[in-house]
Amino acid sequence: MIAAHTPRELIFSDVTNDIGPVALAIEGALPDWLRGAFIRNGPAQYSFGPVQFRHWFDGMAFLQRFEFGEGKLEYTGRFIRSESYAAATEGRAEYQSFATPAARSFGSWLAGVTSSNITDNTNVNVARYGDASVALTEIGAPRCFDPQTLETGNLLKFADDLGTGPTTAHPVRTAGGWVNFTLKPGLRSEFAVWRLAENGSRDAIARIPSKRPAYVHSMGASRKYAILVEYPYRFDPLAMILGGKPYIENFHWGGDETLIHLVDLTGSAPPVTCAAEPFFAFHHVSAFDDRDCVVVDLVGYDDASIVSDLYLDRVRERAPVAPGLSLRRYHVPCNGQDATRETLSNTRMELPRVDVRAERPRYVYAPRVGEGDAFTDGVLQVDTSSASQRVWERPNESPGEAIFVPKPGGNETDGAVLFVAFNAREKRSALVVVDAATFEECARAWAPAMLPLGFHGQFWPNY
Ligand SMILES: [Fe+2]
Repeated sequence: MIAAHTPRELIFSDVTNDIGPVALAIEGALPDWLRGAFIRNGPAQYSFGPVQFRHWFDGMAFLQRFEFGEGKLEYTGRFIRSESYAAATEGRAEYQSFATPAARSFGSWLAGVTSSNITDNTNVNVARYGDASVALTEIGAPRCFDPQTLETGNLLKFADDLGTGPTTAHPVRTAGGWVNFTLKPGLRSEFAVWRLAENGSRDAIARIPSKRPAYVHSMGASRKYAILVEYPYRFDPLAMILGGKPYIENFHWGGDETLIHLVDLTGSAPPVTCAAEPFFAFHHVSAFDDRDCVVVDLVGYDDASIVSDLYLDRVRERAPVAPGLSLRRYHVPCNGQDATRETLSNTRMELPRVDVRAERPRYVYAPRVGEGDAFTDGVLQVDTSSASQRVWERPNESPGEAIFVPKPGGNETDGAVLFVAFNAREKRSALVVVDAATFEECARAWAPAMLPLGFHGQFWPNY
């Protein structure tokens, strides 16, 4: 464990134990309609004696649960008891992960030599697939967990033969069900874009060949299309199989264009591919159909250097350079002509969220990325219709992803914005509730300790 001093070092220091369940005292007033569980996922521990993970994305998965009910708030935090976690706690570096090498190579997994050395550390997101609550990552199978106790369950087995190749931890909700892709790397690599059927089968709705596939962290969807964007941050499958490098170190920035694939969700027409300027993104925000275009909002960068800037030794020391980091809107013609960009906000932000009920969400919620000591230093509410924005901010406080929880029956500003903020002066975290209409803080509840900043979470009114 490193000795943490600066706010950045504190945010990326280790949480080493499960927490709770514990009742949290509430300052202010929770909305009286707020009932349910806010469940978050993300990395929490990076150092295990001889095993030292190198990148933020490699930390061991820690599920967090805030249960709201009758003016009370209860917190639980638990590590996922995966094989990778067991190995790390026993000092064994056996599993290939995002950016940390292991004894056996990632390539041997891709080549089918072994299936057991790929990490099962599902540390990115959570979702509900039918009755199953699952923790998700992008280079392994989903992991089931108990949404009440956060106890670890089995790996989820899909009822199909699409395999366990690289995917995203961001399944996108469509009217017909969850949509995502699985990449099958090889001499003829292809992205199989699938929809999850009720029987647990991933039904392929399109197959997109790609000689040198891109790193794709999330997808978008409008009513008509799933949107898969291949940034010029690509890998050579053969080199990956032979090279023995950790997953992300096989990807290289280059090329002069981004390819945006529009996948007809009915599966009745082949995908349409449009070219765009070279750029990179982790996170789609939303997408909608607009006459002969699909409008795709995302948080974009001019290049993929953000991936390198999130190695722990760098991110603990300095703010990511993140060239061109902005909220962007791409107009993507359905006839395959080149896509064009519009900038919605030049404020540096990440981990964007919207009201998922809206066909054309107007408001985007996102932590503001800091430029100095703080990794993040506020939460933004961006009005995409006017480019105006409001901000929640408190001295010494760094927020994680902020999610919008709609008041039942309410409109797009009738609800609460929930996030965890770390206070570097107090060295502890609080769950913060902001009124989406006024964008004023209405309640907070201090946790007994520092909580991991985490990646992504969901609010489940019924669980
Ligand atoms: Fe993500």
